[in-house]
Amino acid sequence: MIPQSFIDELKYRLNIEEVVSSYVPLKRAGKNLKGLCPFHSEKTPSFTVYPDTNSFYCFGCGKGGDPITFIKEIEHLEYTESLKFAAQRVGLSMPEDVKDDKAASLKRRILEINRLSARFFYSALISPNGKEGYAYLRRRGLNDETIKAFGLGFAPNSWRSLCDYLLKKGFTTEELVTANVARTNSKGNVYDLFRNRIMFPIIDLKGSVIAFGGRVMDDKKPKYLNSPETNVFKKGRNLFALNIAKNQNSGSLILTEGYMDTIALHASGFKNAVATLGTAITSEQARLISFYADEVIICYDSDEAGRKATNRAVEIFSDTGLRVRILNIPNAKDPDEFIRKKGRESFRELLESSLNSTENEIELLKRKYDTSTSDGKLYFLKEFCLLMAKQEDILAAEVYISKIASSLGISKDAVTEEVNTLKKRAYYREKKKLELALPSFAAQREDFSNDPQRHKYYKYAKCEDRLLFFLYKNPNSIPLIRELLPPEKWVTDSNREIYSTMLSFYEDNISLDISSLAAHLSQEQISRFSGIIAKNCESNISLETANELCRIILSIKNEKSADEISKMDISEIGSYANELMKNKK
Ligand code: GTP
Ligand code: MN
Repeated sequence: MIPQSFIDELKYRLNIEEVVSSYVPLKRAGKNLKGLCPFHSEKTPSFTVYPDTNSFYCFGCGKGGDPITFIKEIEHLEYTESLKFAAQRVGLSMPEDVKDDKAASLKRRILEINRLSARFFYSALISPNGKEGYAYLRRRGLNDETIKAFGLGFAPNSWRSLCDYLLKKGFTTEELVTANVARTNSKGNVYDLFRNRIMFPIIDLKGSVIAFGGRVMDDKKPKYLNSPETNVFKKGRNLFALNIAKNQNSGSLILTEGYMDTIALHASGFKNAVATLGTAITSEQARLISFYADEVIICYDSDEAGRKATNRAVEIFSDTGLRVRILNIPNAKDPDEFIRKKGRESFRELLESSLNSTENEIELLKRKYDTSTSDGKLYFLKEFCLLMAKQEDILAAEVYISKIASSLGISKDAVTEEVNTLKKRAYYREKKKLELALPSFAAQREDFSNDPQRHKYYKYAKCEDRLLFFLYKNPNSIPLIRELLPPEKWVTDSNREIYSTMLSFYEDNISLDISSLAAHLSQEQISRFSGIIAKNCESNISLETANELCRIILSIKNEKSADEISKMDISEIGSYANELMKNKK
C-alpha cells in the first residue's frame, strides 16, 4: 500500500498543464487550455485541461482525470508504475516499503538487456570481428558519424556470443528469452536470436532501446528480422528515429517505409525523417506524428505496394488534422536509392515540389486514363469532378479546375457546373441520411452501453451528477446531504460508488480532489467524474438547489413504471396520482 502522504506530496507537485503539455501542444482558451486529444483522433480540439481543478477531460471520447491518470493512460502503465513515473518526473523518490510490482521490474530488466545488447552490437561492429558488417554499411554509403548517431551494430556470426555476454552480467536465461534477444532449443540450450546481421536498434522517445531490426548482408531470407512485440515494445506505438527527428522542430516529418531510407535521409541532412517498423502505419503512430509536426510528407517506395500503402496512410492521416504531402520517387525504388543516385539537392527539389494529397490524386488519375482519346478524357473528367466535389477548400478547387480545363482544352464553366451538380446531389444524400438517423440522435449523445441504469433513470442520473459536483465544490455540506440522501437512496450504482467514496474521504479527512479520487475509483469512474466536473464547471449550485436535487432523487421511490400502473385498479391509480401531485408541490 502506498502511503497517502506520499500521494499527497506527489499530487501537490504535479501540474496538469505541465504534464499534459509535454505530450500535447495546448492553446489557452480563457482560464483553461485546449488541444487535440491524444486518446482519440480528432481535427478540432475537444481535449480540455483545467488548471483550477488540476484535471483534464475530453468532450470527444470522455477520458478524463488527474495528472496521474493522464500519465497512466498515455504511457500505458499500471497505477503503481504511473506513480513511480510521475515521482521520477518531479524528483520524488518512492517510499522504501513500496515493493516493485513484478511487471515493472521485469520491464526494467528487459530495457537493461536491450541497452547492453545495443552496446555489444556496436562494439562488435567496430571490432575486427565486425569487419564484414562495417564494410557493408560503408558500401551503402554510411559514415562513422551516421553509424554512431543511430547506434548501428553487428551481431556476430556465432550462436552464443551475446548470450554469454549477458549471462556473465547476471541475467537469467528466461530474461534473455523474454527480452527476445535469445531463444532456447529443444534441449533447453539458449542461443542468440540475431546472428550475422546488421543491427538497427529501435529507440523510443525516452531514449530507451526497445527492440532491434536485423538485416542480412546478402540476399538470404528473411531480409530483416525484427524483434517480436514485448511489454516494452509495441510496433504500432513507435517510429524509428522519432527520438532524433522530434528535436529538429522543423514543423514537418518525412515518413518512410524502411530503416535504411530514414538513415540515408538523415545522413544527407534531412534529420526530420522517421520510419514505421516494418508494418503499415497505425492511427496511433499518425497521432504521434501530429504531436511533433503540422505536416507529414509521405515518402514511400515507388512500387505498387508503396503506392497502395501511401493511399492507406493518407486516409489514416486525414483524422489527425496534419497537412499531408506526398513525395513520389522517380527513377529509383526507394528514397535511399534515389538519394544515392541523385544526391541531396535533387531530393530537396523533390521535397519542394511534393504534392498535396489532392494534387497527387489528380496526378494518379492522369496516369490512369489516356486523355488524348475522347473516351479517356471523359472518364478522367468524371473522376476528376467527383474529386473536386469532395474538396472542402473552394479556392483550391477553383485553381485545379482552371488548370485541368485549360490543359484538356475544354470550358472551365462546363466543369464547374458538373462539379456543382455533384455537390448538390451529395448534399441531398447526406441530408436524407441525417433525417433517417435523427430519432436515435438524442440518445446517441451519451454512450449508455456500459451503464444501462443510467439510460433507464436518465433524469435521476443527471440530478445525481449535479449533486456530486455540488459536494465536490462544497465538501462541508457532505454531512447534511448524507442525512438527506444516504448512499442506499441513490438511484444509479455508478454514482453511488463515487458518492460513497466521497463520504469515506470526508470521514478520513482526505481532501476531495480528482487526484485522490482517481486513486480509489476505476478508470471509467474517474473519467466520468471528470466529465461531470468539466460539464458543470461554469455553474454554481446553491444549497437550495442541492436540497431540491435530493428531493427529486428521493421521489423515484414513488414513481411507478408504466407496467406497474397498467396493473392497478381505478382507486389505486387515483391515490397514486394524488401522491404524485403532493410531491410536485
Ligand atoms: P534495404 O533493402 O536494406 O534498402 O531495406 P529497405 O529499407 O529498402 O527495406 P524494404 O523496402 O525492403 O522494407 C521496408 C521495411 O520493411 C524494412 O525496413 C523492414 O522494417 C521491413 N521488412 C523488409 N523485409 C522484411 C522481412 O523480410 N521481414 C520482416 N519482418 N520485415 C521486413
Ligand atoms: Mn532500400
